[in-house]
Amino acid sequence: MAEHLLQASRQRQVKAMTAAAGSAGQAAVPLLLCALLAPGSAYVLDDSDGLGREFDGIGAVSGGGATSRLLVNYPEPYRSQILDYLFKPNFGASLHILKVEIGGDGQTTDGTEPSHMHYALDENYFRGYEWWLMKEAKKRNPNITLMGLPWSFPGWLGKGFNWPYVNLQLTAYYVVSWIVGAKHYHDLDIDYIGIWNERAFDINYIKVLRRMLNYQGLQQVKIIASDNLWEPISASMLLDSELLRVIDVIGAHYPGTRTVKDARLTEKKLWSSEDFSTLNSDVGAGCWGRILNQNYINGYMTATIAWNLVASYYEQLPYGRCGLMTAQEPWSGHYVVEAPIWISAHTTQFTQPGWYYLKTVGHLEKGGSYVALTDGLGNLTIIVETMSHKHSMCIRPLLPYFNVSRQFATFILKGSFSEIPELQVWYTKLGKPSERFLFKQLDSLWLLDSGGSFTLELQEDELFTLTTLTAGSKGSYLLPPKSQPFPCVYKDDFNVGPI
Ligand SMILES: *[C@@H]1O[C@H](CO)[C@@H](O)[C@H](O)[C@H]1NC(C)=O
Ligand SMILES: *[C@@H]1O[C@H](CO)[C@@H](O)[C@H](O)[C@H]1NC(C)=O
Ligand SMILES: *[C@@H]1O[C@H](CO)[C@@H](O)[C@H](O)[C@H]1NC(C)=O
Repeated sequence: MAEHLLQASRQRQVKAMTAAAGSAGQAAVPLLLCALLAPGSAYVLDDSDGLGREFDGIGAVSGGGATSRLLVNYPEPYRSQILDYLFKPNFGASLHILKVEIGGDGQTTDGTEPSHMHYALDENYFRGYEWWLMKEAKKRNPNITLMGLPWSFPGWLGKGFNWPYVNLQLTAYYVVSWIVGAKHYHDLDIDYIGIWNERAFDINYIKVLRRMLNYQGLQQVKIIASDNLWEPISASMLLDSELLRVIDVIGAHYPGTRTVKDARLTEKKLWSSEDFSTLNSDVGAGCWGRILNQNYINGYMTATIAWNLVASYYEQLPYGRCGLMTAQEPWSGHYVVEAPIWISAHTTQFTQPGWYYLKTVGHLEKGGSYVALTDGLGNLTIIVETMSHKHSMCIRPLLPYFNVSRQFATFILKGSFSEIPELQVWYTKLGKPSERFLFKQLDSLWLLDSGGSFTLELQEDELFTLTTLTAGSKGSYLLPPKSQPFPCVYKDDFNVGPI
């Protein structure tokens, strides 16, 4: 009997969905239904027992190193279009966080970014393109969180050695000058400052940095440490109450969605402060979709930051095309809005830093996961992912095997959410072109007749966002120019624009 009802309902729904699918409508769209009697497992979303951790956002790294270099030279209107796909709210990736390299005159993966102090007594806050990029991001989203992190330091700080901890005051002065310069010359407020990318930290340096920030009136600038592993920074914090006090966020790189006990014991915010780093194909998109949910579910991480923002360096360099989108041809204007942009949108367009995760988040019975977040004002955003093992491997770490298979998942809204009448539905399916959808809006779901519950039919490699927010949109521009090889004749005087 229930089976029969389900079938009838399915045909109706699929018809409605296919009609709505327009030109891409040849592929089957998913089954959504409101039902009390549905097969499969049930998951309760409830805030009556309080909320989980505060959400801090989804972001990306520019630099580390020189990853945005070619973007600067793009002709308009393409350069602005790319920036819109990255930062404009309710348009594309709509990122909440931009983390930039503090150039240190050293080669830091795909190139070198210039320091604001090449030598002692040198000061210049107009070198490189990160200032320009931060201003472009801020123009589009005034609320974007800005972070700075050194990857390398100019040699004079280490008195000839590659070591920033020779003179702690001097290194703190160097870093604080960058923050003061950002405000003074560019009116940019830096929100978070890091220590040294994937290198050693020095406990006394972190304390000196905090003191110097306060001395400069920069109490609001928070410290994140140590942009490497969870340990040993977490253990050091548990043994040193001053260190525990001065560090605001523990940031780990490529955590594989997991954290460690010491990090949790600090009761600090935990971030995946560098992650992804995977070719931006559908497998990279699968990686990104899986970790955006599971970094919180498995590891309590409340922000995830992709390396890198936009693949704007030659593809033959290390980690070619490991950005959320690709813009590596300033001579032609060609760029590609890759799938990770739309995966980001599933979370970023329907949440904001300052929202809270519900406590009721977790794994689905036949593989995949769900999170739910609220603004505390009655809005609810649910993100469900079913990325398969084969199609969601990140470049690191090794991903233990898991199985994802077709399933029905029923979600039951309780607490403040039990009366929600309608949810907007956004859908992605990665894989074969004939079955592929990227961030497509489906018909909304009406919940009034179903007592606040609904059922999704889930296949592998899908992403659903169900939300009370109505402002989401899939931004688009006319197709950019076609890809072209590097021109035989190319002129540059190396003095134009933000370089
Ligand atoms: C910025 O944040 C404020 C306060 O949360 C909000 O009212 C405003 O809409 C946000 N602006 C944008 C562009 O997101
Ligand atoms: C949800 O968010 C919108 C837009 O920010 C806001 O106007 C509204 O008051 C919020 N609450 C509910 C219950 O919709
Ligand atoms: C994955 O799960 C499906 C359905 O439960 C099952 O048929 C299949 O054999 C499983 N695959 C593996 C490799 O375990």
